[in-house]
Amino acid sequence: MINQQTTLFKTPAPFNLRLQVRYFNASEIAALFEGQDIVQGLTASPKTLPAQYFYDDRGSQLFEQICELPEYYPTRTEAWILRHYAAEIAECTGACELIELGSGSSTKTRLLFDAYQAQGYPLHYQPIDISAGILVESARQLLADYPTLNVQALAGTYEQALSNLPPSDLSQRLIFFLGNSLGNFMPQECDRFFAQITTVLNPGDYFLLGVDLEKDSDVLEAAYNDRQGVTAAFNLNMLAHLNHRFIGNFNLNAFHHQAIYNSVDRQIEMYLHCQQPQSVQLKKLDLSIDMAQGESIRTEISRKFNLEQMQQYLQAQGLSPLQVWTDPKQWFGMILCRR
Ligand code: AVJ
Repeated sequence: MINQQTTLFKTPAPFNLRLQVRYFNASEIAALFEGQDIVQGLTASPKTLPAQYFYDDRGSQLFEQICELPEYYPTRTEAWILRHYAAEIAECTGACELIELGSGSSTKTRLLFDAYQAQGYPLHYQPIDISAGILVESARQLLADYPTLNVQALAGTYEQALSNLPPSDLSQRLIFFLGNSLGNFMPQECDRFFAQITTVLNPGDYFLLGVDLEKDSDVLEAAYNDRQGVTAAFNLNMLAHLNHRFIGNFNLNAFHHQAIYNSVDRQIEMYLHCQQPQSVQLKKLDLSIDMAQGESIRTEISRKFNLEQMQQYLQAQGLSPLQVWTDPKQWFGMILCRR
């Protein structure tokens, strides 16, 4: 009897009992508004597209390849910081529900898991990602490698997931937002984002932010114009995604990738330049636009931050910085805050 109980306790629960997935982007309400941001961006001047449309399953794969590129320093620099300081983060927060925004492959997340596990804390993970494919695939790999892990995966936008977070099993939450994904938001969007974060967090909960820091523009531009052309493929894939999803006819061969550093606004800007005039339809959105030769679409901004200014900003948003970590070159920063 005692033996049996011991066995039961030590055998990890099967996958299906440790994994729940909720799909927000499949809801009827979501479908009603789907793509309205695209219509807005493509009818504006200059033309823009929201960076979230990079991430269909193919786009998420390409982004994983970007993370391995020799020129793309952010991922490995942030991983260096986590390898050195994840234990301090875990010690500081104690046991927490681990909520990740834009979890992707959850590769760096493993460094946090290892630290929380080493402290003897239970692993409760709520990954949020817009790409359901990579979300579920990564969850399965994590469950295989962490026998006590529980995952509640949320497929949808940050906004959809944050306004529908499942109740926590643990009394405190840590929301983490790594890889400088915040850099995609314009200042106004940042304000709205943090308003939602501080609504979701209770006083005493934690927020961990990874930010890319200002540096030499040569280093920055190389990271977004890699020699193998993976970033170019990633950028063009957005149009392939839109063609497929909204029944469109962007001619991918007629667009050219470019990333430049705007030192005034302190941001990388990614463009697709149109090489020959074309008229573009996206049938599902009832959209028809003309693109002139030489006209461009801005597909992404990736802002680069200053650590001191970011701490002041977070403080003003109601998130008090507790500790800051960086790498020896000070290329990337990590800030732990408390609500
Ligand atoms: C995922 C938004 C942080 O801005 O560096 C990488 C996306 N775009 N290469 C970034 C990206 C081109 C990435 N973020």
